[in-house]
Amino acid sequence: MRNMCLLGIVISLASHTAWAQTPAAPLPPKDVFVAELLKKMSVDEKIGQLRLISIGPEMPREMIRKEIAAGRIGGTFNSISRDENRPMQDAAMRSRLQIPMFFAYDVIHGHRTIFPISLALASSWDMDAIGLSGRIAAREASADSIDLTFAPMVDIARDPRWGRTSEGFGEDTYLVSRIAKVMVQAYQGASPALPGNIMASVKHFALYGAVEGGRDYNTVDMSPTRMFQDYLPPYHAAIEAGAGSVMVALNSINGVPATSNMWLMQDLLRKDWGFKGVAVSDHGAINELIKHGVAKDSREAAKLAIKAGIDMSMNDKAYGEELPGLLKSGEVPQSDLDNAVREVLGAKYDMGLFADPYLRIGKAEDDPADTKADSRLHRAEAREVARKSLVLLKNQNDTLPLNKQARIALVGPLAKAPIDIMGSWAAAGQPAQSVTVFDGMRNAIAQQDNLIYARGANITDDQSVVDYLNFLNFDAPEVVNDPRAAQVMIDEAVKAAQQADVVVAVVGESRGMSHESSSRTNLDIPASQRALITALKATGKPLVLVLMNGRPLSIDVQQQQADAVLETWFSGTEGGNAIADVLFGDYNPSGKLPITFPRSVGQIPTYYSHLSIGRPFTPGKPGNYTSQYFDEGNSPLYPFGYGLSYTDFSLSDVRLSAKTLKPGATLTASVTVTNTGKRAGETVVQLYIQDVTASMSRAVKELKNFEKVMLNPGEQKVVQFTLSENDLKFYNAQLQHVAEPGEFNVQIGLDSQNVQQNSFQLQ
Ligand code: BGC
Repeated sequence: MRNMCLLGIVISLASHTAWAQTPAAPLPPKDVFVAELLKKMSVDEKIGQLRLISIGPEMPREMIRKEIAAGRIGGTFNSISRDENRPMQDAAMRSRLQIPMFFAYDVIHGHRTIFPISLALASSWDMDAIGLSGRIAAREASADSIDLTFAPMVDIARDPRWGRTSEGFGEDTYLVSRIAKVMVQAYQGASPALPGNIMASVKHFALYGAVEGGRDYNTVDMSPTRMFQDYLPPYHAAIEAGAGSVMVALNSINGVPATSNMWLMQDLLRKDWGFKGVAVSDHGAINELIKHGVAKDSREAAKLAIKAGIDMSMNDKAYGEELPGLLKSGEVPQSDLDNAVREVLGAKYDMGLFADPYLRIGKAEDDPADTKADSRLHRAEAREVARKSLVLLKNQNDTLPLNKQARIALVGPLAKAPIDIMGSWAAAGQPAQSVTVFDGMRNAIAQQDNLIYARGANITDDQSVVDYLNFLNFDAPEVVNDPRAAQVMIDEAVKAAQQADVVVAVVGESRGMSHESSSRTNLDIPASQRALITALKATGKPLVLVLMNGRPLSIDVQQQQADAVLETWFSGTEGGNAIADVLFGDYNPSGKLPITFPRSVGQIPTYYSHLSIGRPFTPGKPGNYTSQYFDEGNSPLYPFGYGLSYTDFSLSDVRLSAKTLKPGATLTASVTVTNTGKRAGETVVQLYIQDVTASMSRAVKELKNFEKVMLNPGEQKVVQFTLSENDLKFYNAQLQHVAEPGEFNVQIGLDSQNVQQNSFQLQ
């Protein structure tokens, strides 16, 4: 056994087993440890730490190990098992200073067990359920030797044309900020240094969700007040919750790319917010500074990025190739390099990797025999969380829940879609382990012949869209069309419908349609499926639409054709069982939309918290010279916060504990919510505030709190919210966070539109 002394700590290196048996001496404090290590590093070793390399076809494994052993790589991503990562960590332990590697991955909504996509998690409005999904993801990922996840993604998304809407938690600043905190705490637990926990890298800093026209990678141009008021708080919440890392956005902000943005990365992130972790670029973003038109070549791109404070370069050669020359010429001072390396080493310290480089890799003899084994999944938890994420949008004549004895025609291209139900960014999820809607419904009924299946349509008949969606699926195409003629499939589905008591059509998008680089100019269900729905409607049978999609869709016509509509997003490994639970009434739906559904794409933006304007349109009054479209109403199809239940709820008036609020004091707003229906059920009581008159136009309403309550039939509960001056603050024209005296409306409802109102004065 060869012992080496690293900063006075004896670490035995010959094999992990021997190493792990050496009692660990406590490490010196982080600052001391990192400063000492920095002193020992050569310039090349320092630059090596700044390189974050993707494991993939570009670089053979053998070469990666050589580079690691030479101290030329700081971390990798996309390798997701202990036996893949152990040889890389062994290589790091052979390097001169044995600085451990870290291993990262996009664990966005589950790791092995796939939970509902983030937009669906947000639909639960249930912080315990969301936290549980994050905890399990962290446990599973860390058991697969992952140290860091590129999550949570907390970009506010108000333009559903943007495909990455699916990856975030919706349009609302308050809701997304609450979730940002919950997710960081779920991933990192008490500390990212502890086994079972992983470090969170909050992304995409900043404002990526506001790309112009919803077109991915496009420009962002935004007023400072809107930035501070609406878009920045979720990132800030994640950082205040202790996120150890930040991933920098691909977009520019008011003309300056985030990757070279000194104001964003230095003034705001580090100075104002006090962020002390590691900032990683997005994939290839440093070299993209050339195409942004702010760097003439790779050398200048590297210089701009390191000066801005981008510590690690993700899968991009700029730092490795250009920093040596830039340092030699003095264009980049040694202190810039040291600052970046300090953050990388600090993050590794925080991940617990200096204390034990094999913390998450473990011993070879303990490796799982089969990483994909079903026994490694958390199915019960996934089903529970998925049920909470489903949103009932329409239920005319109590079409739902279905009778388990009924004959059901199950149709649609997404009824048997094990890949799609996982959603995009499905980490290590295995389609073969997904429960489809077909599986879930079959599991729920005794008489299996009562379920008559017909595909009915392809996702889309547009071959160019199919080709686009399959472009990056190297192993096998994801979207595989049934070669039969569209009419043949429709006829088969109609025949199934005619034999049934009720029709369930599972329709929407393939998962790739709501993904990175999947922006759309229209939000319709593709034509092939619309034709199917029309044909099903014509049978006169009760029609239930089960929607699968990663963004709001414009479904005005289809929701009119349907008797019931259940929004399921992409609900993960146990999605089919969860959906069947709701369809058959074994679970009473309680999800609420975290994003507004427009009637048509032309209405966008439709977010509910828009500013007051001088000529607002008033429903029922003539529209001329008011802010509206003459060919479409202003109201959304479904408002933010909306979602039905199999029971009914009523709300009392809003009671206030006082009509004035003094600075420093509090006031309570309460309502009584009653379950007036026949079933036990949960609903979300939502509190909105409007600052009626201020020094700037303010939002017509903004969510400030909510509570999810469970009530038995006939049961009542008083829900009480405490308000303080802090809840009334906003960023004024000077970007001061202030509450201005005057009148405030308090609105409480079960969605953002249908509310009870009262008002008070802030003194
Ligand atoms: C995405 C990031 C992701 C990274 C690594 C990029 O294309 O924008 O969100 O974390 O790839 O997979």
